[in-house]
Amino acid sequence: MKKIKDYAITPIELFNDWAKIGKDKGMEIGHNNSVEFMIKLIKRYKPQANLGIDIGCGNGWAVKKMKKELNYDKIIGVDGSEKMIKKAKKEDPKGDYFCENIIKYKYKEKKFDFIHSMEVLYYLEKPENFIKHAFLNMQNDEGLFIMGIDHYKENKLSLNWSQKCGVFMNTKSITDWFDIIKSAGYKKVKYWQVPNNDKESTLVILGIK
Ligand SMILES: C[S@@+](CC[C@H](N)C(=O)[O-])C[C@H]1O[C@@H](n2cnc3c(N)ncnc32)[C@H](O)[C@@H]1O
Repeated sequence: MKKIKDYAITPIELFNDWAKIGKDKGMEIGHNNSVEFMIKLIKRYKPQANLGIDIGCGNGWAVKKMKKELNYDKIIGVDGSEKMIKKAKKEDPKGDYFCENIIKYKYKEKKFDFIHSMEVLYYLEKPENFIKHAFLNMQNDEGLFIMGIDHYKENKLSLNWSQKCGVFMNTKSITDWFDIIKSAGYKKVKYWQVPNNDKESTLVILGIK
């Protein structure tokens, strides 16, 4: 399999460019339905607690939405793109947004009651390492891990995205992702395919520590 360095730009660089030309807004619109689905699941499984995190938060729109809809003391966002984080802070100056690579970041507030991500984890070469680290070091007991992705083997129309965008994407099947979450140690792992239109869907997977 190719690696991130085999491409002219990294996923973080690509999304920095997207933020510059306003394409973050398109993601906000395109991902909204799936994020709303995940927020409903957070409400069902962990409606109130101390601390939540959106991994790869982009311009922070989902963090803002979660802060409105969930009863948490604090919800933070982390993204590797400077421009995305700048936009997040501009819209929500009192919010907690950090510009960091999610695989290198030393999560200062370590134990999260939920760890959410939308359209992020397939940009990692080894998502299994990050998810294991999340389970062991970042997640509170009884905490919720929830991820959504639109690029996966069964979502056929997504399979040329890596070539189209010129960046690394880790193409895995539903079973691969399901097994990664289970092997990390999460229990009660469940998945859904949330339709985006009549041909495409978001794979949502949830696990409980
Ligand atoms: C498809 S965008 C999704 C953004 C946001 N979750 C949304 O739904 O609008 C993927 C985001 O993941 C971020 N990202 C990708 N790899 C990352 C990494 N290793 N560390 C931090 N952020 C990363 C990118 O900068 C980008 O903002």
